[in-house]
Amino acid sequence: GKVAVLMGGRSAERNISLMSGEGVLQALRSRGVDAHAFDPAERDLSELKRDGFERCFIALHGRYGEDGTVQGALELLGIPYTGPGVMASSVGMDKVMTKRIWLSEGISTPRYLQMASRKLQDEGALVAFVVDAVQQLGLPMIVKAPHEGSSIGVFKVKTAEELAESVRQVAAMDSAVLCENLIVGEELTCPVIGTGDSARALPLVRIVAPDGDYNYEQKYFTDDVRYLCPCDLPREQEQAIQQMALEAYLVLGCRGWSRVDVMVRSSDSQPFLLEINTSPGMTSHSLVPMSAKADGISYPDLCLQILASASL
Ligand code: DAL
Ligand code: MG
Repeated sequence: GKVAVLMGGRSAERNISLMSGEGVLQALRSRGVDAHAFDPAERDLSELKRDGFERCFIALHGRYGEDGTVQGALELLGIPYTGPGVMASSVGMDKVMTKRIWLSEGISTPRYLQMASRKLQDEGALVAFVVDAVQQLGLPMIVKAPHEGSSIGVFKVKTAEELAESVRQVAAMDSAVLCENLIVGEELTCPVIGTGDSARALPLVRIVAPDGDYNYEQKYFTDDVRYLCPCDLPREQEQAIQQMALEAYLVLGCRGWSRVDVMVRSSDSQPFLLEINTSPGMTSHSLVPMSAKADGISYPDLCLQILASASL
């Protein structure tokens, strides 16, 4: 039957989603799937039903696509879709909620402080938050917009002044500000595919960015970043991180596929999970396809596997 590849959307990651969606669309078509592009920013999702689409491949990133809203609409329409359901998508799009659940399950994630943006409008409260953050997390530290992706709204700050400035910027773009202890070490990512007992972690990809700066530009529009897959970690360490990523995926109630981002601290090799991406990038620079390839799964096969897991 007809498959809609949902792409575009209204988030700050719209352009990345268009690249992911285009890749998925071509791959599915190359395997004979009757796949069509569908941009929820331009068309009403209810048209999916009217136009006879039987399944959706969600290639949307960020808010209104990766955050449970589209998943909820598809539940109501009764159209099976790829990736995690409403709750896991919604929690996964919120880095603070994700950390709270992981911490309650004993899964390691960097120490953090967060505050609602509306409270930070008061200059006194902002200064107090900055002082607290410096005291508890130290400098340099990471400031993040908790509901964005692709490094949008992420800042590494070295001084209290830079911190205050970044907190202001993030407060203007998101409903909360997340400050995180900086983990100095190796940056890696671990895709997980499948559902329940058959879910499994794929090989880790190690990211080596110039000056450790793996930002929006570096992610998609340069060839300055080196990706190692196999990742070159000792076998037992890679397996331990894969096990951790799988657990992190399952405790959030994920299904289908996702990708867990990881830092391994240089000083003691301890892994910390940063976040989960419940609708990971599928662009030519993206990491799930790289990992899958190392596991013997081609890009079109990966797309077919993900599509086959579409459910309600
Ligand atoms: N948020 C981007 C698309 C990713 O995690 O791949
Ligand atoms: Mg992300």
